[in-house]
Amino acid sequence: MINQTSSLEFSHFPVMLNEVLKISSPSNGGKFVDCTFGGGGYSRAILNFSNTIIQAIDRDKKVLSLAKELEKKFPKRFKFHQSRFSQLDQTISDYVDVVIFDLGLSSIQLNDLKRGFSFKSSYDLDMAMGLNNISAVDVVNNLNEKELKYIIKFLGDEKDASKIAKNIVKYRNIKRITSTSELVKIIERSKKKNFSKKINPCTKTFQALRIFVNKEITELVNGIINATKKLKPGGKILVISFHSLEDRIIKYFFSNYSKNKAKSSRYFPESNSEELVLFEEYKNKVIRPSKKEISINNRSRSAKLRFAIRNKDKFEHPQKFIEKFQKYLNLEAINV
Ligand SMILES: C[S@@+](CC[C@H](N)C(=O)[O-])C[C@H]1O[C@@H](n2cnc3c(N)ncnc32)[C@H](O)[C@@H]1O
Repeated sequence: MINQTSSLEFSHFPVMLNEVLKISSPSNGGKFVDCTFGGGGYSRAILNFSNTIIQAIDRDKKVLSLAKELEKKFPKRFKFHQSRFSQLDQTISDYVDVVIFDLGLSSIQLNDLKRGFSFKSSYDLDMAMGLNNISAVDVVNNLNEKELKYIIKFLGDEKDASKIAKNIVKYRNIKRITSTSELVKIIERSKKKNFSKKINPCTKTFQALRIFVNKEITELVNGIINATKKLKPGGKILVISFHSLEDRIIKYFFSNYSKNKAKSSRYFPESNSEELVLFEEYKNKVIRPSKKEISINNRSRSAKLRFAIRNKDKFEHPQKFIEKFQKYLNLEAINV
């Protein structure tokens, strides 16, 4: 087991760290990209292996001091870029062995209640991870009812999206919505009385707004395409996701552009795969955290890890992948 405490004062549990290390084999050395630096859990663990070089990315400027500390400690082996991982192909100049994505929010973001990610406190409705043009306040006050409904329905998978969107518009006709607690009240009023006790009635709407504010689907689609572009033959791409839409996107990309899928499409031409092959055989295996990890870190309970291995073929743009998820990309492109 890897010891998850570190010299840097930070209480943080990197999700499935042991599994990530096992797949990415830092003991062999190599060039790594940590696309979601956050609390730096993966980067630090990989730096423990002496022949590794890491470039880390995060859009949140709040991680800068932590990243600077690592740059100082490992000047030749660690470099941080504050940018969005969708632009990875411009940020990272060389070809690499491993690219890792650990999607969603960091504990730094979750624990800073002023950033408005949580429905359990009352602060400004912000939800920006960093390098954003908009915040959740702009979204709930500026978009029309239909646009709000589609965002809440498709990005949050919320059954009561129509009612919630209607009540958001009704409320803001009287007063501009500015705080998380105002949105909580609107959602609670819109949901049927017997809403599920297992999941907070606000979870899905908050998730939808967060995804929209940060353009998380566009980031993911372009991020995994550009990571694939930068992988050496035999290089690995690992993605940890936390909700079903993300997992669907990753699974589709890995399996449809793998050797086995492309081969089978010759016999089943109706398959929506194309001939383009970017990965070795994909076994469609999803890795979940152990019961023990979930008991220590509840945030890991919905995590799913998938990885794929780059083949030797030349990179070509996977246009059908983009088309498959175009609906979500269009939704995130709505002007606020
Ligand atoms: C779950 S945390 C990562 C935690 C990290 N693996 C660790 O061990 O500490 C996700 C991080 O990714 C960052 N992030 C999310 N989307 C991003 C994007 N599109 N580009 C760059 N960073 C992003 C967030 O700001 C956050 O800090």
